[in-house]
Amino acid sequence: MQHDTFLAGRTHTMGSSAIREILKLAARPDIISLGGGMPSPDAFPTEFIDELYRQAMDHYGTEALQYTRTEGFPALRKALVDHLATQNIEVGADEVFVTTGSQSVLDAMGKILVSPGDRIAVEAPTYLGALQAFNPYEPSYVQIDTDEYGLIPESLERVIAEHNPKFAYLSPTFQNPTGRTLSLDRRKQVAEIIRRSDTLVIEDDPYGALRYRGEWAPPIQTFAPEQVVYTGSFSKVFAPGLRVGYYVAPERVRQWLVIAKQGVDLNTSSLTQALCTEFIAGGYHDRHLPKIIEIYRPKQEAMLKEMKRHFPESFTWTQPDGGMFIWAEGPADADMEKIYEEGIRNKVAFVPGKFFYSDPASGRATMRLNFTVNSRENIRTAIERLGASIRNVLGG
Ligand SMILES: Cc1ncc(COP(=O)(O)O)c(C=O)c1O
Repeated sequence: MQHDTFLAGRTHTMGSSAIREILKLAARPDIISLGGGMPSPDAFPTEFIDELYRQAMDHYGTEALQYTRTEGFPALRKALVDHLATQNIEVGADEVFVTTGSQSVLDAMGKILVSPGDRIAVEAPTYLGALQAFNPYEPSYVQIDTDEYGLIPESLERVIAEHNPKFAYLSPTFQNPTGRTLSLDRRKQVAEIIRRSDTLVIEDDPYGALRYRGEWAPPIQTFAPEQVVYTGSFSKVFAPGLRVGYYVAPERVRQWLVIAKQGVDLNTSSLTQALCTEFIAGGYHDRHLPKIIEIYRPKQEAMLKEMKRHFPESFTWTQPDGGMFIWAEGPADADMEKIYEEGIRNKVAFVPGKFFYSDPASGRATMRLNFTVNSRENIRTAIERLGASIRNVLGG
């Protein structure tokens, strides 16, 4: 049977087979992969998951096993009010919505807002998973320029004026893939621009809590609540296997997001929402987060130190204050796919940066490195191998 003949037209926008093929190689057991984007299993709170489960059963009983509201498990919505207040986001329980990972908010935003050909503004580079979420709705993308401090507000302003996007997708804190964080001044500037132009923004913030140094800045949402859909996630502070995320959004947008979700999964797992409720309301989050930071900070320091030692002088890279990634850029003629192939020969893998751009011609000389998954020892070996691979390809 020719199954391909049954596929919907939109599926042609959904393949990103090049990256799948490339990362297949990285899965070989003899290769140290810096290509992943996952938390470290040692950062999961395995020591108290049984206790959380028992408490969830004591507090909610069969409610935690029943279907729940599409908007979210009521106790979790209540608990998220205090959790969000720590980010200066002031909302009531009926203004917080729970989702199946923050990823599903990206899909739902595409579904309710984007008709084929509509424009979406994205940072250059941006989160690959956001492009994958939006692609089936057949948008065209416009890129917002970035520099070492994150997105450039003047570029956002120009993109809005010239292209009138349906929304801009931004990740201002420890961005995936660069690790960069937007300064307080730029956040205020962005808020001013989107208020003035009445532009909708998705502020995706799954990494904000993973801060190893530097000063916290409030989300853009706090300066422009009528323009921003703010999304958070339990994936990086608790466990991604739970699939629990949440968002705060302007009223009309959230009404439609709930309608869209109803048809997709009715509700996010009640049981994992009950666990997340206990995790934040029972103080486990506040006790556990410093442990995650103490696991990741030294790994990041080790990677930065080894890069300084082994990478050629022609390379520059980010020094993020948090998150899970470092972004490196080689000289303009560096072809990271060639360096990737050489890396595989030397048993090290990473993600070539071009996959994080909506414009396939961008980012040829860039790479994303993850520092959370591997041990410090493996990070040292991997960066040494990568440095050698770069020199083998570029000379010097
Ligand atoms: C920037 C960004 N947004 C969203 C997600 C999706 O996270 P979740 O597990 O909450 O669906 C990820 C996952 O890595 C991410 O990096």
